[in-house]
Amino acid sequence: MIRKMIAADIPAALDTDRAAFERPWDEAELAAELQKDYARYFICDNGYGGIWCIYETAELIRIAAREPRRGTGTALMDALLGAARDAGCERMLLEVRESNAPARALYKKFGFKEISVRRGYYEGEDAVIMEKIL
Ligand SMILES: CC(C)(COP(=O)(O)OP(=O)(O)OC[C@H]1O[C@@H](n2cnc3c(N)ncnc32)[C@H](O)[C@@H]1OP(=O)(O)O)[C@@H](O)C(=O)NCCC(=O)NCCS
Repeated sequence: MIRKMIAADIPAALDTDRAAFERPWDEAELAAELQKDYARYFICDNGYGGIWCIYETAELIRIAAREPRRGTGTALMDALLGAARDAGCERMLLEVRESNAPARALYKKFGFKEISVRRGYYEGEDAVIMEKIL
């Protein structure tokens, strides 16, 4: 079950981060995220994700599953897109490592289109910029 994330969820989200990312956030970084009034974070047993809603644009900041391929990314993305629409956003933007095939497949499944590339953005690796009109 997906629900809004609160401060008490930080340890579980940090566990997910360590499983999912080479450079996981620390407790202070995640706590600061939850304090931002333009941020919307959601969590479930197997992962968490968050966006920033700034004027007409939502930006995907995090989406991560501890154990992949259990539908978690899909459920989180549904919640995040709903929150972006509720906030009045008209589009969602994200950036993803070119080599991150699972994430790119998830975004494509949700109708995100590749609109640009930032050359060498991730320690020399390209970042693909993707957009979905809401
Ligand atoms: C990207 C990520 C969040 C996907 O979460 P997930 O829970 O595995 O996603 P789901 O089980 O809901 O799968 C949704 C879709 O993603 C795609 N997908 C997921 N894993 C995939 C893989 N290994 N290879 C290809 N496509 C994959 C598929 O299109 C899948 O749809 P399908 O099951 O109908 O084929 C997960 O792989 C993850 O946490 N990765 C590490 C963190 C990360 O890179 N986050 C994104 C950058 S911020």
